[in-house]
Amino acid sequence: MHAPRRGAIEIVEDAVIVVDDAGRIISTSDARTPDGSAAVAHFAAAERLTTLTPRQFLLPGLVDLHIHAPQFPQLGKALDRPLAEWLNDYTFPLEARFADTAYAAPIYGALVDTLLANGTTTAVYFATRHLEASRLLAEICLAKGQRAIVGRVAQDDPAQCPEYYRDPSPEAAIAETSAFISQLRALPGNGAARILPAITPRFIPACSDALLRGLGDLAAAMRCHIQTHCSESDWEHGFVLDRCGVSDAAALDGFGLLTRRSILAHGNLLSPGDLDRIAGAGAGIAHCPLSNFFFARAVLPVRAALQRGVNVGLGTDIAGGASASLFDSVRFAVVASRALESGVDPRRPPAERGVAGSRIDFAEAFWLATAGGGNVLDLPIGLFRPGYEFDAMIIDPDAPGSNLQVFAEDSGEDVLQKTLNGVTRANIVAVFVAGAIVQGAA
Ligand code: GUN
Ligand code: FE
Repeated sequence: MHAPRRGAIEIVEDAVIVVDDAGRIISTSDARTPDGSAAVAHFAAAERLTTLTPRQFLLPGLVDLHIHAPQFPQLGKALDRPLAEWLNDYTFPLEARFADTAYAAPIYGALVDTLLANGTTTAVYFATRHLEASRLLAEICLAKGQRAIVGRVAQDDPAQCPEYYRDPSPEAAIAETSAFISQLRALPGNGAARILPAITPRFIPACSDALLRGLGDLAAAMRCHIQTHCSESDWEHGFVLDRCGVSDAAALDGFGLLTRRSILAHGNLLSPGDLDRIAGAGAGIAHCPLSNFFFARAVLPVRAALQRGVNVGLGTDIAGGASASLFDSVRFAVVASRALESGVDPRRPPAERGVAGSRIDFAEAFWLATAGGGNVLDLPIGLFRPGYEFDAMIIDPDAPGSNLQVFAEDSGEDVLQKTLNGVTRANIVAVFVAGAIVQGAA
């Protein structure tokens, strides 16, 4: 089951997927056709056939576009403050501890294991401003088989970053970012570039103009991904308007940080003009609906962004979002869009309560979590199609401990909708990245 286009679900029974030694899909066919049955016979004879049980099915691996890896110890707590206070009171002190790789190693190991077990085959990470621990995160992803984009966080502004957790100068931050990119590209065992670097200015308020400009120049030279936060909350959005005189999106564009490979977290307060600018650059938005309820006080108008041609996918925003499961982001993306459409204040009359035409449905949210995310990253992932990476999970609705109830009258689409709403890691019996099993067993 996959979403080849936004809003379209394709369910193929008795599908045969042939994957090459590098983990790319060579062909997809139907086992009941001559080509399909010949492929089945060939790979069975070679003892290289994996067969699902009649009620199991494959989904594409999930693409989580926004994770703060060092915030994993904070997951599920500390959600009581507004963004700026939350950063200073909880988050910066926690991230500063990653100067110690002995502290970082078990946390990053547990995070990558947890994400893989929840079906996240591609993860886009903010690490910390420490070169060594950021490289360690990349090495752990490589060792555990997760596809990942990893960024060493840059933040140098003394007015917004505490002395114990900031880059000493723009030059130092740019030099370390450059070194990090080179080290990741040269990582032993990363010949297939399953681990990619991202230039990662935390957000405009934490970075000086000199740093942002320097990172924009570096992005042009290195041609890598870029990730940052953009128009997330009233405070942050207003801060940028005050300091730069223009919106986040316009300022990022001016610094050379808005490209086809830019991932902008949140984007709740983007104007129609900002959305057009982002669409024009081919940049993408990481929609993090759960986090937005706690820190943004606004819901991303995701349908409006899509209708204006912006690439959008989903993120958990660990630990601003309190779940490591991107399936929860799928659920909350639907819920947030319904809240925006209906409105939530019962004192207002129904006709004035919400924003008409805002909702997305489960099929669109599923696309956001898979092919939509792949599209944001400009990578061939999130679909079962020749030329795409075989990143996938086997779902077993009957696994021990399952919450899913599938009945004879359920259509394939019913099964998918029930799965998106009710799947737990008990149902995710095997996870594949680039054709190799990285968790569970098939
Ligand atoms: N803006 C700057 N840093 C952060 C962060 O760590 N989390 C969230 N949600 N927003 C941010
Ligand atoms: Fe974030």
